[in-house]
Amino acid sequence: MRKVYLILIGTIMLSFRLMAQEQCPIIPLPLQAEKGNGEFTIDVNTPLLVSSPQLDEVANYFKSEMLRLKSLPLAVQRISNAPSIHFELTKTTKEEEAYEVLIENDKINIKGATVAAVFNGTVSVLQLVSNNKNTDGNVKIDAWKIKDIPKYKWRGLMLDESRYFMGKDKLESIIDWMAFYKLNRLHWHLTDEPAWRLEIKKYPKLALVGGIGNYNDPTKPAAFYTQKEIEEIVNYAARRNIQVIPEIDMPGHATAANRAYPQYSGGGNEQHPEFTFDPGNPETYTYLSNILREVNALFPSGMLHLGGDEVSFGSDKWVQNEGIKHLMTVHQLKDLKAVEHYFMKRMADSVYKLNAKLLVWDEIADIDLEKDKTIIFWWRQDKPQQLQTALDKGYQTVLSPRLPYYFDFVQDSSHQAGRKWGKFYNPLQDVYSFSADSLIKNKDQLKLIQGIQANLWTETVTNNNRLDYLLFPRLAALAEAAWSSDENKDFKNFEGRLKRHLLLYREQEIYFYNPFNPSERPEPVFYRKTNHKFIDQPGD
Ligand code: ACM
Repeated sequence: MRKVYLILIGTIMLSFRLMAQEQCPIIPLPLQAEKGNGEFTIDVNTPLLVSSPQLDEVANYFKSEMLRLKSLPLAVQRISNAPSIHFELTKTTKEEEAYEVLIENDKINIKGATVAAVFNGTVSVLQLVSNNKNTDGNVKIDAWKIKDIPKYKWRGLMLDESRYFMGKDKLESIIDWMAFYKLNRLHWHLTDEPAWRLEIKKYPKLALVGGIGNYNDPTKPAAFYTQKEIEEIVNYAARRNIQVIPEIDMPGHATAANRAYPQYSGGGNEQHPEFTFDPGNPETYTYLSNILREVNALFPSGMLHLGGDEVSFGSDKWVQNEGIKHLMTVHQLKDLKAVEHYFMKRMADSVYKLNAKLLVWDEIADIDLEKDKTIIFWWRQDKPQQLQTALDKGYQTVLSPRLPYYFDFVQDSSHQAGRKWGKFYNPLQDVYSFSADSLIKNKDQLKLIQGIQANLWTETVTNNNRLDYLLFPRLAALAEAAWSSDENKDFKNFEGRLKRHLLLYREQEIYFYNPFNPSERPEPVFYRKTNHKFIDQPGD
């Protein structure tokens, strides 16, 4: 009898330990997650209760996702005694995005100090929901107690729609996936050499003429977002805790704009014709400031990315430009680099005057701008000194190094269509394992790091399957690298959770790369009508 009793105790203790250790299936992995006993059943009568009208939108988001993912039509109620899902604003924490989720047999409680925090908790519950198979119209989710807080406040994805225009439906579906992974910044690269993609009322030819073509077919009819569509997309993202930041690249990468308004072109070279705006023409500053005024009015994020990268790739004509020679004399600018800096400083002032934050690529770390109003994006992993300069100068910085965060690089050595850097490419594990804490030794400087971001340049994208193939599943690894603490990260464990997410990709017809079975979906091929070459090959 005593033996049976001991075995029983032992079995109970072991199962408790296994329960405590049971892996929370959520991506990105929460800071703390403890498995409870029992489960909560969501059925068509389960009320959604909000502690304040501010949370109506979050509850409505949950409602629409339950319909989309599980065909379960729920309703937001004011009061109810039935087992319910509670959305609650609380003062117990001040952390902006931290949340707690408690799932028990008779309730689900999602709480945080802000709407964004409660949204994050809601997404965690939705992930648990989507992990469960629908049984006779009900969804059962296991009991969990979760306490969570993001590592970074900037968890970003950049999409280049100049080279490949994906359009509103596909963009919104990517925004859905970003929200599902708690990514919260969409950096929207809207202007570049091939095309200009947003309507500017004061200068309509920017979209109508500049919008013609893409990287692979310069004759493609104009495609761009109207201001109404931009408003809809920005609102769609805002409901999902995502801020949208437009990039209007200058003074380089201005080719499409210069097709529309050649009077502001500073020229280019054979490889990059009409690549720059003209810093020697005083009218250029008025023109660009007018554009920025409209762009700023369209984007409530209060952030404008002005690019500032790779100007020297096509600034050859500046040497002969009389206006620039005059500018150099008047302002005692010693060379073309100084002209570039003069231009960026003036445009930075235009941004600050709009009370907006200026965002720029890491070339601009060389210039002294307003520290509290500027964010530098470090992208050249082969130039660590550029990151160091940004940090030494006290700039807030987002990390998006080409290795491992350029998603136009291939994920597997056998892939042909995307970029590689010598023998390097960007496999899932590298995206996952990146750690700013090991890269930056000075702990005070670590505080300047706002977060991390992946950039998807679209030279090799000619259809949505290829877009998916480059994004998935790396998007999930990016999310965990940006959210979860280094101590909590474990690639093998992540892979275990990811396997279930691949089922969701399949359900939603995402053309993803399967790292566990690479032959499941072949790499999408693409064709190209132009002879453009990549402009930042190794060595550039
Ligand atoms: C960049 O990749 N030119 C920022």
